[in-house]
Amino acid sequence: MQTAKARAVAAFRRHFGTEPAMLFRAPGRVNLIGEHTDYNDGFVLPCAIDRDAVVAIGPSNDADISVVACDVDDARDQFAFGDTIVPVAAGWANYVRGIVKIMQDDGIALVPAQLTIAADVPLGSGLSSSAALTIAVGNALAGIAGQAIDPTRMALLAQRTENLFVGCACGIMDQLISARAAAGQALLIDCRSLDCAPVAIPDDVAIIIAHSGIRHANTDGAYNERRRQCEAAARHYGVAALRDLAEEQLLAGRAGLDETSFRRARHVVTENARTLAAAQALETGDMARLGQLMAQSHASMRDDFEITVPAIDQLAAIMATPLDAIGGARMTGGGFGGCVVAVAPASKVPAVLDAIARDYRTPAGLPADVFVCRPSAGAGLA
Ligand code: GLA
Repeated sequence: MQTAKARAVAAFRRHFGTEPAMLFRAPGRVNLIGEHTDYNDGFVLPCAIDRDAVVAIGPSNDADISVVACDVDDARDQFAFGDTIVPVAAGWANYVRGIVKIMQDDGIALVPAQLTIAADVPLGSGLSSSAALTIAVGNALAGIAGQAIDPTRMALLAQRTENLFVGCACGIMDQLISARAAAGQALLIDCRSLDCAPVAIPDDVAIIIAHSGIRHANTDGAYNERRRQCEAAARHYGVAALRDLAEEQLLAGRAGLDETSFRRARHVVTENARTLAAAQALETGDMARLGQLMAQSHASMRDDFEITVPAIDQLAAIMATPLDAIGGARMTGGGFGGCVVAVAPASKVPAVLDAIARDYRTPAGLPADVFVCRPSAGAGLA
């Protein structure tokens, strides 16, 4: 298959009969550790992957916005600027409609444009295809209007698009890493201050991502339900967010909190601590410690946060086994399907790939899709 860039350019010529004026890309991401901590004002450790959403854009003399989705059978959407921008049935179109509306509401002057979009980030895999798309479209709309938007501001606009327009109460991780990532590095993000500290990923450390074959969707109710449970637990403990809760307080103040909410809170509190420890382990090359933390993170997602599914648990175990406790594997992303990530010595890649091919089948009976990634640069020109 052609690259996303080639597909976007070819579709632009085909639909609009001219060359695009500009090309933009934004990467998907894999989260190494720190799951469901972002909307609790906590810590996450993602990196961008070498898979992008790509937008080809040019000025329009026709509708305010005309957009073609190459990966959805060249489906097309057209709409005018202003208050009348409302969600439609086609899921993909709402990321475009949403970011247009949110940018305008934020006072950014846009110009009429025609766009084509294509992505190499697999959809519904927990690798942030939606954040990549929203950031790439936002930067393209700003670019064609002659504006440069600060990456953190663009990430916040893209998050608001999901929260207010698409209906997912997601945190800031996916958008921020897509907008701000740097090649060869993960970012330790403080989701309260939005400070990003680079953590180098050495060349001899591999990031292996395997797709369970179970699609995941943050717009399903379970994600938003977890967020509500965390907010209720924070209220019980009298803290602004679970980020503010220490492990001792978690136990000391437990009385009156139901068992489920307690376990949700325990996941977040312990996951924040694991994320900080994992950044340090990666920095100091302590792959054994990193592996322990990843295993604990997976167990906590399975038992306390209850966001894994049996196929994901199985895939994580298959990927961890050949590592002999040097490096580790865990589910990554929102949960209920999607991908498992392993962080491992590069020398272990063949053994992990063999184990997946031999021991895992998707629910449809197929081998898993596997990507060995390098941490990549954040959004920019394509
Ligand atoms: C999704 C959301 C993120 C984050 C993760 C879970 O990817 O978009 O904001 O909450 O789930 O860590």
